[in-house]
Amino acid sequence: MKPLIVAQITDCHLQNDPDHRYRGRDVEQSLVAVVDDLLEQGDAELILWTGDLVHHGALNGYSRLQNRLAALPLPSYWIPGNHDDVELMLQLGGRMNLRTIVEQDWVILLLDSTSQPDGQGSGQLAQTELDFLEQQLQRYQDYHCLVVLHHNPVPVESAWQDSIMLANSDAFWALLAGHRQVKGVVNGHVHQTRDQLYQGVRVLMTPSSSVQFKAGCDLMTLEDEPTLARPAYRLLQLYPDGRIATRVKRVAC
Ligand SMILES: [Fe+2]
Repeated sequence: MKPLIVAQITDCHLQNDPDHRYRGRDVEQSLVAVVDDLLEQGDAELILWTGDLVHHGALNGYSRLQNRLAALPLPSYWIPGNHDDVELMLQLGGRMNLRTIVEQDWVILLLDSTSQPDGQGSGQLAQTELDFLEQQLQRYQDYHCLVVLHHNPVPVESAWQDSIMLANSDAFWALLAGHRQVKGVVNGHVHQTRDQLYQGVRVLMTPSSSVQFKAGCDLMTLEDEPTLARPAYRLLQLYPDGRIATRVKRVAC
């Protein structure tokens, strides 16, 4: 059984000036290292970019990213995070803005969770996004489904991060409860790895391509364990029987 192989890269936090560092890290260089590693693996069929792609929501970072993605030998799809400018992404992204990807036995649904920002990093799914999700799940009932969004829909046991998780996670999970074909939910935002079952659905969180946050902290704390602090990405193998195999790849740079 050959799986569909999908990569997730998240929270690149590209700066306006590529020489400017983000929390001490050269995030341009980190991203190059992550993408190079992914290409060396050679088997991913598409890349999901799950928000906070630039840090200041400005054109410079998107233009550099877009040029880089256009040159890749596999398609990319992007969604916004709380640091992004949704309108700019829609203007610049072309096919990268596709929200429904159907491949083999799987449908991948990409959601915008940046509605109602609280200015601290939180966001939620607008009613239009929930409607879209419901509609697509009805339409693709016979497919296994992976749902992709920026904000974590379950807490991570870090007080500062749990206060800025998906604000309307109750509505999200109530909707998914009616659609058993959803096998996985993938998010960014937390800059750390997590893999758990919630309501029978695999919830996968992924470290960033930039800097990582330490798990289980009341206040924002940068990861200081050298291996965990490396830039990273996730590979997912989506099997025809609905099974998901996945791993996080951390990249030395
Ligand atoms: Fe982020």
